[in-house]
Amino acid sequence: MSDEVKKGLLGIVVDETTISQVMPDINSLTYRGYAVQDLCEKCNFEEVAYLVLNGELPNKNQLKKFKNQIEKNRNISINLREIVKHMPKKSHPMDVARTIVSVLGLEDKETNDNSPKANMRKVIRIFAKTPTAIAAFFRARKSKKIIPPKKNLSFAENFFYMCFGKVPNKDIVKAFDVSLILYAEHSFNVSTFTARTITSSLSDIHGAITGAIASLKGPLHGGANEEVMHMMNKIKKPDNALKWINNALKKKEVVMGFGHRVYKKGDSRVPTMEKYFKKVSKINGDKKFIKIYDIVKSVMIERKNIHPNVDYPTGPTYHLMGFDTDFFTPIFVISRITGWSAHIIEQHAANKLIRPLSKYSGPDHRKVMLLNQR
Ligand code: CMC
Repeated sequence: MSDEVKKGLLGIVVDETTISQVMPDINSLTYRGYAVQDLCEKCNFEEVAYLVLNGELPNKNQLKKFKNQIEKNRNISINLREIVKHMPKKSHPMDVARTIVSVLGLEDKETNDNSPKANMRKVIRIFAKTPTAIAAFFRARKSKKIIPPKKNLSFAENFFYMCFGKVPNKDIVKAFDVSLILYAEHSFNVSTFTARTITSSLSDIHGAITGAIASLKGPLHGGANEEVMHMMNKIKKPDNALKWINNALKKKEVVMGFGHRVYKKGDSRVPTMEKYFKKVSKINGDKKFIKIYDIVKSVMIERKNIHPNVDYPTGPTYHLMGFDTDFFTPIFVISRITGWSAHIIEQHAANKLIRPLSKYSGPDHRKVMLLNQR
């Protein structure tokens, strides 16, 4: 057995998956064989969520049934609403999000049933209730009245409604819907691998998703969309952008929203999200962020050959939609619950305990000295 260390599991293939892949010939992320950009133009988020979870796009009846199940499960318990209301207002919403899923696990009668059918029922509940609880915290921490979910609104519309009390125009909703589609799934990324690792000990779905949320929070993963916004706020205006990025590169800083472990020639989700970022900027009459965006991007590509990832356009898009910066990654969560869940179900179906090896580099064998001899 080789004892070569592959830090970060770089280049290691650990399992098979039928859920998604980055297809080299078309340099595109595909869900169950469909290119994401194709899905964004022809489907809404609910159809894509169904696809990720079930393997096929739904027909009209299947979609109707799926949407009904989600709508029926959107309400959260009084207990969870009170917990969210009493969370410290300064808590990071990602910490709140992982606590929400953990509490959902405490309340769920089927928590310890890992059968495929029970798991799918739990997925529907987690998928439907988590946005409600996250939106409740969005309002509660501003001491605003919590708005319960509304039936007959799409997943995206309902999230806007619960956060702001109204649904914006259809182009803004479409841009948000597209971001949810693009965030839904991405093979063995850190959070998904975390979820699969937790599942591999035959633990439950709520625990696996709670762990995945903690993993997504980090700025090298989902937390990057928030960091992009902090960066843009530091830059302040387009006139500062060139100097700022040149200085960051001189200091060898990591520029958030750029680079990717898998994509080295550009993230296939970026052109689609960029198109909708530009639409939202136009609707808002904002030119500042798009100008900063373009300057930083062109310097990163020209000087470093490092391309933006999907978090680069989603950050300013969510800002222009009115979301607080620390809510950007929780939005990622409400979408990625679909991908994580599909992977958890796949892992359960052909489980093998995930337990890699390490190369020991600590002290040599030594004898324990009694306390009074140390
Ligand atoms: N800014 C500056 N330099 C970079 C960046 C960046 N964003 N990304 C990579 N590099 C450089 C890095 O310094 C290294 O240079 P050198 O070989 O001279 O040491 C080289 O490119 C290879 O980078 P790496 O960090 O070894 O590559 P990795 O595959 O381990 O890391 C990454 C991938 C995403 C962690 C990294 O690109 C990064 O830290 N990016 C910024 C955070 C970010 O935007 N994360 C979101 C990832 S995608 C969507 C998601 O998961 O949410």
